[in-house]
Amino acid sequence: MGFDDLWSALQPVGRDPRTGGYRRFAWTSEDAVLREWFAGEAARCGLDLVVDRVGNQWAWWGDPDEAARAGRAGVVAGSHLDSVPDGGAYDGPLGVVSAFAAIEAIRERGFSPARPIGVVNFVDEEGARFGIACAGSRLLTGALAPDRARALTDADGVTMAEAIAAAGRPVADLGRDDATLARVGTFIELHVEQGRALVDLGRPVAVGSSIWPHGRWRLDLLGEANHAGTTRLADRHDPMLALAAVISSARGAAEQQGCVATVGKVRVEPNGVNAIPSRVTAWLDARGPREGSVRAVVEAVGTAAGVQPDEESFTADTAFDVVLAARVSALLGEAPVLGTGAGHDAGILAAAGIPTAMLFVRNPTGVSHSPTEYAEPEDCVAGVEALARVVEDLAR
Ligand code: GLV
Ligand code: MN
Ligand code: MN
Repeated sequence: MGFDDLWSALQPVGRDPRTGGYRRFAWTSEDAVLREWFAGEAARCGLDLVVDRVGNQWAWWGDPDEAARAGRAGVVAGSHLDSVPDGGAYDGPLGVVSAFAAIEAIRERGFSPARPIGVVNFVDEEGARFGIACAGSRLLTGALAPDRARALTDADGVTMAEAIAAAGRPVADLGRDDATLARVGTFIELHVEQGRALVDLGRPVAVGSSIWPHGRWRLDLLGEANHAGTTRLADRHDPMLALAAVISSARGAAEQQGCVATVGKVRVEPNGVNAIPSRVTAWLDARGPREGSVRAVVEAVGTAAGVQPDEESFTADTAFDVVLAARVSALLGEAPVLGTGAGHDAGILAAAGIPTAMLFVRNPTGVSHSPTEYAEPEDCVAGVEALARVVEDLAR
């Protein structure tokens, strides 16, 4: 089965026919279908499926434990299969599908690896349901405490523990998984580019250098419910005014600090057209080249809103292995080396000390986290070939 067949098998899963976007959230029925697909592909390729303590899925060619004991820990490629609300088809799945396709290509060439080769599907990368980005890789490395993760709730009040249990997975096991980490000698995440640098450079594939510091903050804006028609303006305690201050100060501070800041999610209670809200919850996503500037944006927003932003997750400035990036770039004909403002499981693994690299596949519009996210089929094929060359080189 080639890239096209692998790719088209995933297309209907979690697709909203009204928008063409995807709703693939962790531990839902759509996620179960995706996990079944991963297990099926592993079986079809004759790879051994292992699910770690967190629920991340690994498909191995070769015995990863024996190799790790012998100092030849595996080369792993992959990404995630979940999406943001109304996400594109490529963010995540392109890396997983390309990993399976790359293994097939390597095998067809008769390559016999000296290190085991694995494919991974990290659970809950986008954090769309429970709020914490890269929850699967953070739990795996211990960057997210299991007790905190278990208690996170979705919009309906379902805890992550309940969702994992409902999906048939053990909840008590959640936590840092040293046995799994020991199997990963090198991790390569191929990802659709989230920007337009490769269009301008005229190249199909780039290598990742670093990830901007970034995080998510929750702002709880309290008000007093009252009648929209009978409450004098002077008597109102309207949290929507604080929300307006959050939004405009985020933009202003981001411009001032050379950062980006987004308020993409709000919850208004009770959300009635003729009632002053009792409470508004807003989430701020802020990112930038320097942690100090990002924190200055968050502080400015908190001051404008009159509340202390609650940090739900933060990822420090992350640099990928410089020697590995140079080796991969050279292997791919001096592929450009680019930084990014997007978060990835690769960043979490890199921060945990695992030699990690990323490949970016050209995105003609640069649009991502949107139904219109796209990559040309020939660029996807170029990505598979690049990944196959890198994996082959590392597993030699
Ligand atoms: C992940 O896609 C992120 O950067 O939010
Ligand atoms: Mn994403
Ligand atoms: Mn992604």
